This record gives sequence, structure tokens and C-alpha cells, in this order.
Amino acid sequence: MRNFAEKKPHAVLIPFPAQGHINPLFKLAKLLHLRGFHITFVNTEYNHKRLLKSRGPKAFDGLIDFTFETIPDGLTPMDGDGDVTQDVPSLSQSVRKNFLKPYCELLSRLNESANAGLIPRVTCLVSDCLMTFTIQAAKQFALPNVLSFPSSACSLLCILYFRSFVEKGLSPLKDVSYLTNGYLETKVDWIPGLKNFRLKDIVDIIRTTDPNDIMLEFLIDVADKVQIDSTIVLNTFDDLESDVINALLSMLPSLYSIGPLPSLLSQTPSNNQLASLGTNLWKEDTKCLEWLESKEPGSVVYVNFGSITVMTTEQLLEFAWGLANSKKPFLWIIRPDLVRGGSVILSSEFVDEISDRGLIASWCPQEKVLNHNSIGGFLTHCGWNSTIESICAGVPMLCWPFFADQPTNSRFICNEWEIGTEIDTNGKRDEVENLVNELMVGEKGKKMRQKAMELKKKAEENTSPGGCSYMNLDKVIKEVLLKKN
Ligand code: UDX
Repeated sequence: MRNFAEKKPHAVLIPFPAQGHINPLFKLAKLLHLRGFHITFVNTEYNHKRLLKSRGPKAFDGLIDFTFETIPDGLTPMDGDGDVTQDVPSLSQSVRKNFLKPYCELLSRLNESANAGLIPRVTCLVSDCLMTFTIQAAKQFALPNVLSFPSSACSLLCILYFRSFVEKGLSPLKDVSYLTNGYLETKVDWIPGLKNFRLKDIVDIIRTTDPNDIMLEFLIDVADKVQIDSTIVLNTFDDLESDVINALLSMLPSLYSIGPLPSLLSQTPSNNQLASLGTNLWKEDTKCLEWLESKEPGSVVYVNFGSITVMTTEQLLEFAWGLANSKKPFLWIIRPDLVRGGSVILSSEFVDEISDRGLIASWCPQEKVLNHNSIGGFLTHCGWNSTIESICAGVPMLCWPFFADQPTNSRFICNEWEIGTEIDTNGKRDEVENLVNELMVGEKGKKMRQKAMELKKKAEENTSPGGCSYMNLDKVIKEVLLKKN
């Protein structure tokens, strides 16, 4: 029997229950584990079931000092096989209403196990910024709580100003005509840190016409709560978003950039069982890696719209034919629920046309794909994880932002960092074809690739021993997580 009198620190981590939030927090959990923490990682029952289904029922057995726990998500179970993306507004509402009680009960249970000598006593909490109920739990249990924001610094800055957008009468919109009448081109020149921003570049939750919009209200509440005395870590690095980080520091003095987490993790030596474990909720198709082996370096367009984005059948067909007509090899990940309210149907004509150069799969090990040397460009929805993973791999992007922080990320990708170009929301096949060609073989693509490689290098510098993100994580561990109350 192990002796827990050694008093290992014990961190309990809880992500917002969605793929783009689970993955980065799991990386942080691995990093803390490598620095000597006992870890409890808390998923919702729904997501944990999906994890066990995608990775195999024994995938998480036998880990040392790393355990998974679950709490209910408070939503009515869905029909079907329970393998679909849950509705984000419903989850957000449930997080506020239903999570505090089972979470506190879990913390008490963990401490009972600690009293019985089975695990170390819980010493700190690390929570997704959107899980603000943990602030109250941390007070109740007298524990330090570090909040992890899963997206870019620029999107956090936008969210902190949401209340001002409402006060200035800029949100909610008066009616839907404001989405198309040029209004979104209005300059936003009153937020320090954001250069040449228009309303359409702000995290798009403000584009609602509903005065009681669930997400707007939810994020304003998050902004209010995290501004009171919180330590916040960001999955970004100072060289990438320095102006924004400086602006944020005046509002959140205890803010640390500790990213990019993929780069920080890959530079931390580890050979334990945990290193190869991921948290994808869909089963990964690894055959695409073999297929990439057969392709020339830098020749393949990788297409993936993340875990939440949906599109119309028309949009799917424009992408399909734009890609086919570009004549470039491509790997396209099409989630079963990618088409809004329907199923994905591609004609046999299209399938025949692309048979010698296109591969379609339903989910892949994205970081491995992006780091494969045959990948030359990434057609993406600009989710923050995809963005940061692309930067870590030095791959330039073609941006089709869908919602939330993605328009903001896209603005930075294309205008600040110049490592991407944006496609119109209703981009037609000719535009897709032209932009794919420009990205893969054009002069602009070449420049963007060069800049992406420079950022990759800077990301590595920031996350190597002595680098800013590396030191920041050290500081957060020593000064906050290991602090005795
Ligand atoms: C969402 C939001 O869209 C995003 O903007 C926010 O910052 C976090 O939550 P999502 O839309 O799923 O996430 O996109 P993204 O942030 O890119 O996260 C997707 C994650 O799933 C990435 O870590 C990616 O590597 C992984 N993934 C995706 C795979 O491993 N394989 C796939 O086939 C697709």
C-alpha cells in the first residue's frame, strides 16, 4: 500500500464539458503531473462515457497518481448513441445552475478518501474560466483556484468588454438587418490592445438580437466573476499577443501566458503511459497518417472544422468542389454531424473525381496530422486549439471562422500575424479553389508559411526552459498552486 504521508500536492481539474476545452486542460493536467502533482481530472458523465468509447474501456486504467472522476451535466439525456456535440447554451446554463453541488460533494468525497490514506488530500483547484462555480467552491474548501482560459488573449479581452458593448447600445443588435447592412463594419477603437478592429471582429456573441441571449448573459457573468482576485492562465505566449496581454494585465494583474501548451508539453521529457493518452471524444482514424506518408512534403491541404462548427449542404458542396477543382491533395475530416440538421452526402461524381488525391475521414489525431511533413496548409474554422496547434506546427491557414472567438482569432491570424487568409462565410467554389492554390503554391502562401515557421520558433523559445511561458508556469505552481493557506 502506498504511503500518502509523503504529501504530494493534489490538483483537481475541471474543464467546460466540450472538446475544445477538455483537450487543453488535459494538457495542463499532464504538465502538473510531470511536475509532481497527484491529479484528479473531472469530466461530465456524458463525456467520460464518450472518452471510454473512443479510446477503449481500459485506456485510463493503471495510471499512477492520475485519476478520472465524473459529475452529471444536469441535461436531459439525448436520443441516439450519445456520440454527438452537446448544445453549448444548454451546457452553459446547466454549468451555472447544476454543477456546484455535485462538484463540492466530489471534493468532500476525495478528502474522505484522503483521510482514509487512499489518496493525498486535495490541495488546489484548476478550472476552466467558464466554470465560475469553482470560485465559490474554492472559498468553501479554502483552496487556491487557478482559472484556465481555453482561448486567445484577444478573445478574453473582447469578453471583458462585453458589458461596455451593451452599455454603449452596440449589443444586442436592434434586428437581423444589422447583420447585413454594413453595421458590423463599425470601428471599435475604444478597446486598448485591439488595433483596427471592427464590430465583426469582436467575439460574435454580441451579434445577437435577443435581449435575453443566454451566451451573452453567461459570458458577462464570467467576465464579472473572473475580474475579482483571480489567477488566470492563458494558452498563448507573450510574443504572439503582447499588446493584448499588456492591456489585459491592467484588468487582471494575476494573468500568466503559459502556452502554447502543445509546445510546452512536447518539450517536457516524459515516457510514462500518460504521455500518449489523449482526450478526443470521437474515435481517431489513424489510417490517414499512413495515407499522408505517400504524399510529397508540404503538398497536402488539411481541412477540419473542429467539434462544434456546422454548415449547410450548399456550403459543404462549395468546399468539396473548390477543393476538388484546386487539384491539390487534401485530407478532409468530416464529422458525422457537420451538416446542420442533416447528413453528409457527397455525390459519386465528386468521390470519383478526388479518388487519386483526396481522403475523407470522420476524426483524426489532429496534432500528429498537422506535424506531418506532407501538410502544406490548413483550412480551419479558427478554433483556438486548432490555431495554436497550427502555429506549433508552422502551418499557414485558410480561415473560415464559424462562431464565438473564431472571428477574433481569424482577424489576428490574417491581419496581425499574417499567417492566413479569410474565406467569405458564403465563399463559392471558385474562391475556395483560388485561395487553396494561393495558400499551397502562391507567393502569398510562401510568405505566410515563412511567418508561420517564425512563430513556431518563437513558440518553442517561449516554452523551453528559461522561456517566458515556461517560467510563468513555474511561477503559478510555486506562488499559487503550492501556496499554503
Ligand atoms: C471550441 C471553440 O470553437 C474554440 O474556438 C474554443 O477556443 C474552444 O472550444 P472547437 O470548435 O472544437 O472548440 O475547436 P478547437 O478549439 O480547434 O478544438 C478542437 C480540438 O479537437 C483540437 O485540440 C484538435 O486537435 C482536436 N481535434 C479536432 C482532433 O484531434 N481531431 C479532429 O479530427 C478534430
